[in-house]
Amino acid sequence: MACLTSFLVTATPSPQPSSSLPPLFSSAKPLKLISSNPLLLSSPDFSRSSFCLNEGLTIRRSAKPFSISAQKVSSVASVDPEPLRIMISGAPASGKGTQCEFITKKYGLVHISAGDLLREEVAAGSENGKRAKECMEKGQLVPNEIVVMMVKERLLKSDSQEKGWLLDGYPRSLSQSMALEELGIRPDLFILLDVSEEILVERVVGRRLDPVTGKIYHLKYSPPETEEIAARLIQRFDDTEEKVKLRLQTHHQNVKDVLSIYEDIIIKVDGNALKEDVFAQIDSALSGLVEQKGLQHPCGMYGA
Ligand code: AP5
Repeated sequence: MACLTSFLVTATPSPQPSSSLPPLFSSAKPLKLISSNPLLLSSPDFSRSSFCLNEGLTIRRSAKPFSISAQKVSSVASVDPEPLRIMISGAPASGKGTQCEFITKKYGLVHISAGDLLREEVAAGSENGKRAKECMEKGQLVPNEIVVMMVKERLLKSDSQEKGWLLDGYPRSLSQSMALEELGIRPDLFILLDVSEEILVERVVGRRLDPVTGKIYHLKYSPPETEEIAARLIQRFDDTEEKVKLRLQTHHQNVKDVLSIYEDIIIKVDGNALKEDVFAQIDSALSGLVEQKGLQHPCGMYGA
């Protein structure tokens, strides 16, 4: 366990660009800070350390590079490296949920699926659930006032903070990305699953869900293991060929904006392959990240 020293951190525009500066400070995007007290600076580039900042201090990215000066104040506590924070994105039925099953099993992250949170709200029959269902049936994005708070609250829960999180299907628009940026919430890695359109339609139409275990099946590619499971499988209300085309349209309208926010941390993964092969690509990136962040392998959680 490393000894943490608290730092007073200041950021000032640097007169000379420096090649040694981390990429975070060479882009024109806003820097994300978690605004709790004490403020914890949490970004991929600071993943080996945490800095206690005076509340209210803001550092913004700028077209001009910043230099950081850290003045030692006092030794205050001990911390472990920050856990993994991952976003996974891709068109409808590109395999996000399937890969999340693999990832959470191996890396122990908390899986937060915007679609699942919304479906829970629909099933509960709440006012928000009714509004959400209307949009989901049309393949449109559910309004931010419903989705954003839901996701933020889940991300800030203690299990997500302690174990790390895997955010699936959020953000889906520039405004949703910015809502997280303003809170200082930024992933270590943004996984983009790339799948051709004809495959997507076939995957949607054949998808089935087990309401008991939540497991995702496909009639052709991932058939249920037993007759008993097969008998209880259900189909999602938006899993028709007609509706997936509308969902795809919505995806295409928004994806570029979202990618522009995370361009420095995106990995594009070929999602057309067998699901195990898709996971192998993701696993390799995540293992590298675990190494890079100096994460231990608690109880073999990150072991092969
Ligand atoms: P959501 O539930 O997130 O749906 P989606 O993005 O359309 O994605 P899917 O869940 O359909 O697919 P997936 O990529 O998880 O694929 P899966 O692994 O299941 O969102 C639903 C709706 O909620 C949205 O349309 C929107 O209205 C609303 N919403 C959600 N988030 C929102 C947000 N942030 N803001 C506003 N509104 C929001 O795989 C699909 C099938 O393929 C399965 O049968 C699987 O077995 C099979 N399969 C997977 N991988 C492979 C493989 N490699 N080879 C063969 N088959 C495979």
